Amino acid sequence: MQELKNYIDQNKQRFLDELLEMLKIPSISADPAYKSDVAKTADVVAESLKKAGCSHVKVYPTKGHPIVYGEHMIDPKFPTILVYGHYDVQPPDPLDLWTSPPFEPVIKKTEKHPDGAIYARGSCDDKGQFYMHIKAFEAMVQHHALTCNVKFMIEGEEEVGSVNLGAFCKENSEMLKCDVVLISDTSILGNDIPSITVGLRGLSYVEVEVAGANKDLHSGVYGGAVANPAQVLCDMIASLKDKNKHITIPGFYDDVEVVSDEERAAMNKAPFDKGTYMHDLGIEATMGENGYTVLEQTSIRPTLEVNGIWGGYIGEGAKTVLPAKAFAKISMRLVPNQKSDKITELFKNYFESMAPPGVNVVVRPHHGGEAAVTPSDTPEYKAAAMAMKQSYGKDPIPVRGGGSIPIVALFEKVLGVKTVLMGFGLDSDDIHSPNEHYGLFNFYKGIETIPYFHKYYKELKTGGK
Ligand code: BES
Ligand code: MN
Ligand code: MN
Repeated sequence: MQELKNYIDQNKQRFLDELLEMLKIPSISADPAYKSDVAKTADVVAESLKKAGCSHVKVYPTKGHPIVYGEHMIDPKFPTILVYGHYDVQPPDPLDLWTSPPFEPVIKKTEKHPDGAIYARGSCDDKGQFYMHIKAFEAMVQHHALTCNVKFMIEGEEEVGSVNLGAFCKENSEMLKCDVVLISDTSILGNDIPSITVGLRGLSYVEVEVAGANKDLHSGVYGGAVANPAQVLCDMIASLKDKNKHITIPGFYDDVEVVSDEERAAMNKAPFDKGTYMHDLGIEATMGENGYTVLEQTSIRPTLEVNGIWGGYIGEGAKTVLPAKAFAKISMRLVPNQKSDKITELFKNYFESMAPPGVNVVVRPHHGGEAAVTPSDTPEYKAAAMAMKQSYGKDPIPVRGGGSIPIVALFEKVLGVKTVLMGFGLDSDDIHSPNEHYGLFNFYKGIETIPYFHKYYKELKTGGK
């Protein structure tokens, strides 16, 4: 393993330069204007897989953005690791809040990243993270140190709900056959507190429209007698939670998995300082469901959040107008056992039934996905824990994450395999926000850790044979 380490060390700068090149391409999957940039990024990923030594690489077009597939089989008797990642990124808006342009990567030092961090959209989520796997693979190929067969599936639609990936997996289940899925698209608790994600929340995402009169009206002439959709929308949203911040949708909590007191106690032992948390976010209090700690509120409890709300006049100065329509985008994070389709249905029925006379309410479902739990008593978890122990010098802590990667539940359903979520970012890396960044320490630590995972996984699966 020392030789591998030396190789990584000698090629550090090149690895970084290659990543920076990829970060310059604005692969924004949500915006059709960037379709060709997304396609270009797929080709760059494919090229980098070939250069790293992948014996078979192919870009698969889909109805949306392409999926990049690569494989390197060394021996059919050896275990096979499928690395999943996504090369698409979130839109960078609001642009004026970036301290440097989102697609012109630069290295800056920060308090949490004294060795420097790469500032660019996608640096942490997920280009910087899946690229670690390509570079670790390159190092293993160069040193004939591969212990497992490797398959790569890097998609371009994760940030828009992986809409075409499910069908792709079903159609290509033979090609994707593997023993485990390995993903770096989550975070660790701190650069000196390694952790492994053992759960992800599911998602139900809807858009709502409240329509009143057949046109915008003078708010003096008609105001007071005609329903104001913006106001009605606010009232309706406000009533979705009670004073304990409990969600009021009938049936919403019916299927929620109850977490045992022991597990809750263990979870709350994770290093977490509420004062630092609030300080970092510039808030004086947290706000969430009564009876649960912040760690619980952001992992084992379902939530409902308004992601965007608009309607009426939002330009310069004042305009007296009673808007004809108002809108909101609402997401619900789900926990194990809740079903995304069912929750969407419950929301739709309830929200539409709440409409007061004088307005029309429509709920339009967007994408969704199921929660996932990855047990910690499996060879794959143990291999990840041993790998992190080796590279960080400390045992990692298992933690449930609050975010969603819907495809994880699908991998289990379609391919019948479990996933290991061995991410290396920090929650404070501002993914989806302005000034997203990824620590150089994290990038290189990931490249160092991944070959250990391959080594230990092989040993645990085959008893070293
Ligand atoms: N990488 C994130 C998910 C994530 C981040 C999980 C940090 C745990 C910790 C992923 O790219 C993401 O943003 N997923 C979306 C869901 C998707 C369906 C749009 C999310 O969680 O909002
Ligand atoms: Mn991601
Ligand atoms: Mn994301």
